[in-house]
Amino acid sequence: MKSTKTSLLTLLGLLLLSCSTPQKEEAPSLKKAFQDKFLIGTALNVGHNKGTDSLGIDIIKHHFNAIVAENCMKSMHIQPVEGVFFFDEADHFVQFGEDNNMHITGHTLIWHSQVSDWFFTDDKGEDVSREVMIERMKNHIQALVGRYKGRVHGWDVVNEAILDDGSWRETKFKEIVGDDYIKLAFQFAHEADPDAELYYNDYGMSNEGRRNTVIKMVKELQAEGIRIDGIGMQGHMRLDVPDINEFEKSIEAFAALGVKVMITEMDITVLPFPTDETAEVSLTAEYQEVMNPYTAGLPADVEDAFNKQYIDFFSLFLKHSDKISRVTLWGVTDIDTWRNDWPIKGRTDYSLLFDRNYQAKPVVQQLIDLTKK
Ligand code: G3I
Repeated sequence: MKSTKTSLLTLLGLLLLSCSTPQKEEAPSLKKAFQDKFLIGTALNVGHNKGTDSLGIDIIKHHFNAIVAENCMKSMHIQPVEGVFFFDEADHFVQFGEDNNMHITGHTLIWHSQVSDWFFTDDKGEDVSREVMIERMKNHIQALVGRYKGRVHGWDVVNEAILDDGSWRETKFKEIVGDDYIKLAFQFAHEADPDAELYYNDYGMSNEGRRNTVIKMVKELQAEGIRIDGIGMQGHMRLDVPDINEFEKSIEAFAALGVKVMITEMDITVLPFPTDETAEVSLTAEYQEVMNPYTAGLPADVEDAFNKQYIDFFSLFLKHSDKISRVTLWGVTDIDTWRNDWPIKGRTDYSLLFDRNYQAKPVVQQLIDLTKK
């Protein structure tokens, strides 16, 4: 009896103690803050997929509920030789997304870049016929989409097929197959997984020319009964680019087509830029010290401008959260950002939300605070 009384008193004491001791609050999380607005995603690199970057993985699990493959699903990586597939890294990527209950985007099926020459040529190095090219596109798409059927929720089916002025990019796919290569890519992807969402993804989407051609393309696909679920607006930004009003016009115009609008590949470079291009990967420039000014850290005024750009654009995304289904960052920490090596190799950029010590930058809390307004 005595011991029961003692245990009850001990229990009561513990309960009182737990009420009076403040509970340790869980660190703020982007995905929780934005849960009623849109998905918050990030791109996974090889260190995340193979599990070697454990600090990066902790950030991903805590802050993000959507993932996209930064490189491992690109054709050059996954099928470097015809019929020879390297699925290992992509398998890990998909498994990670499933284990953590995340929205998974496959990136990307048809892109003019990071594609091996075999795709377009025969044994003699000559261009293959339209029929062979279509067969190769079909095999590639069906192998990838088919392998992850029911597991990858959406695919960037065609990437960057349009130029700033709205003209079609002269790719090998277009040259050999013809203008209908885009339609065929969407058809093959749909056949391989009828339940997967299918997206068109491009950069510089605030340009009027590209915006109009995207609209025309989507309308044509819809008129022909071809499935297209969403438009990915890559968010590779600079401190003064893009024009936010033009970006908003594109969000509104794309949403009016009845498809999902996604902000994909978001990052904000703080470094000087050698041209007007925003993400044309073929562009390169020579290294010069003057083009790499922040190796010792970011000056306060530049950090302020960086924060402002993120806040302005996230405010816009919140304003249109009824149209936007997902906002995805292009990487986790500044160590990872492709910006360090493009368009000039070996620079120190600060384009993402987490710093080189895996710490959330102050702007993360500022973005979270936006959701409370
Ligand atoms: O995997 C090799 C590695 O084995 C080798 O040691 C190393 C030496 O440079 O290169 C590694 O490959 C690099 C790869 O990234 C993985 O890090 C390639 O050289 C490099 O060109 C490649 O860059 C990627 C780029 O696309 C080209 O595919 C960037 O990481 C990636 O962020 C970038 O992403 C694109 C989107 O897919 C489409 N939109 C534009 C965006 C930025 O260019």
